[in-house]
Amino acid sequence: MITLGIETSCDETSIALLKDTQILFNGVSSQIKHHQHFGGVVPELASRKHTEIIHYLIEKALKETALNFSDIQLCASTHAPGLEGSLLIGVSVAKALTALLDIPLVGVHHLWGHLYAHFLTETPPEFPFIGLIVSGGHTMIVKVTGHYAVQILGQTRDDAAGEAFDKVARYLELGYPGGPKIEALAREGNPKAIHFPRAMKNEGYEFSFSGLKTAVIQYIQALKKTDTPLPKADICASFQKAVTDILAYKSIKACRDCAIKTLLVTGGVSANQALLADLMAQSTGTNIQVLTPPPLLCTDNAAMIAAAGYYHFKTFSRSHPDLSALPNLAIDAFI
Ligand code: KG4
Ligand code: ZN
Repeated sequence: MITLGIETSCDETSIALLKDTQILFNGVSSQIKHHQHFGGVVPELASRKHTEIIHYLIEKALKETALNFSDIQLCASTHAPGLEGSLLIGVSVAKALTALLDIPLVGVHHLWGHLYAHFLTETPPEFPFIGLIVSGGHTMIVKVTGHYAVQILGQTRDDAAGEAFDKVARYLELGYPGGPKIEALAREGNPKAIHFPRAMKNEGYEFSFSGLKTAVIQYIQALKKTDTPLPKADICASFQKAVTDILAYKSIKACRDCAIKTLLVTGGVSANQALLADLMAQSTGTNIQVLTPPPLLCTDNAAMIAAAGYYHFKTFSRSHPDLSALPNLAIDAFI
């Protein structure tokens, strides 16, 4: 089956074509350069940029794969969660195309997309698994027992992990998005140099990163007051360690508590090698297998959305011709 995937939930416009779960094309056009200047994503600008590029990307996908519109058998588009205006661009294009082509349309929850990035690998994971979803907008531990069968075990009460990376990077004037910048600088620093708090360590699978962000900012302000040069690399390494430590601790704990042997890590922050190292270290001596997607599939892309739509359609044979953008839909809401 040829599936067209569309992703426009935030600041990446992405179009993919899959043959079943084989990636034929996965084009991502990042808007970072347009938002960088503002230190974060400007919603209205994001929608405008999606509109400007989406049809070129679809044409490019068809050209590079030597396929025609008539070859597409299914369309999957992110419809939740995300920036409403941005989601609407992808959803509108998907609705128009599927109506014209008379093919089914599946609305995909973005976080399911991140989980399904793992199903694009040669050996897809087996159920059940624990998912650690760590992106710019979400931090969540889920238990997945089958296609679209999910239980949320815990999530962040305030900032997402990626958001904390972005905010600390902004404060250190490292640029946007902050995750890769902090990771790069952290390689030159000592993760034990400063002890930042690990919030809610003993409170189930819930997270909180806002206090950590404040602790880092207060540390920087105190140094600035005394005109002490900022040990930026040590700050990055110590902050990153506080994040990866707690993410690894809680997700491995979830695997243990649920007696589940597979941990899928996904979302933009799963590209972080220090997180992977902590997960590996904390799972040593257990029979837990930690899986991260290939780097290009960690951050937002339409191949993962197409994969999620493909499995949704295979499992439920349902089309969503009346799809609407739902910026706050939860991952466990069935559509
Ligand atoms: O999944 P994603 O591409 O978009 C959302 O769904 O939010 O995640 C983007 C987030 C950003 O906050 C970015 O700073 C973070 O992922 N990120 C990283 C790394 N690469 C991206 N965080 C830590 N280390 C990285 N290498
Ligand atoms: Zn994402």
